[in-house]
Amino acid sequence: MANERQFKLRTTFVATRGVKEYRATIPAWVSADDVVLEIGCEWGTTTVLLAAQAANVVGTDVSRECIERARKMHPGIRFEVLDAFDVRAAREIGGDFTKVYIDMSGLSGYRSLLDTISLLTMYATVLRPEAIVIKSGALKHFAGHCVPWRGARA
Ligand SMILES: C[S@@+](CC[C@H](N)C(=O)[O-])C[C@H]1O[C@@H](n2cnc3c(N)ncnc32)[C@H](O)[C@@H]1O
Repeated sequence: MANERQFKLRTTFVATRGVKEYRATIPAWVSADDVVLEIGCEWGTTTVLLAAQAANVVGTDVSRECIERARKMHPGIRFEVLDAFDVRAAREIGGDFTKVYIDMSGLSGYRSLLDTISLLTMYATVLRPEAIVIKSGALKHFAGHCVPWRGARA
């Protein structure tokens, strides 16, 4: 019974391989009333695509240089410096984020799979978005080999 009462994540995780797939999710997963946080926005190429789909978008990156460049290139979009691992700072950005996009260097390989899963869990727990879209070929491969057990087939 204790297990039934445990907190359960309700966020859907969408794993993509490569930036082309990452961006291709936007029309399918983002709508006009979404509030979107992008983590690892660099100078905002994907943030611009997100902002074309939803009015309320914030692009973030750990690199101050990237954020300064993004602000200059796209003055109509909000950009903030953020280290993705500081989820409390992410919450302080403010905004009831319904979608989170993550494209961070260092998360692509299989060796970083556990870091990727813990980052997703952290954001799903603290921000509770409907979905997190992440660029991680390793996670996509792993997820493709997971099947939720639904009982014996008839
Ligand atoms: C591949 S680039 C992102 C490209 C961008 N999303 C796009 O679609 O054009 C990866 C970015 O992750 C950022 N990054 C790396 N570690 C990070 C961290 N701990 N928190 C936030 N951003 C990070 C890097 O500064 C870099 O700009």
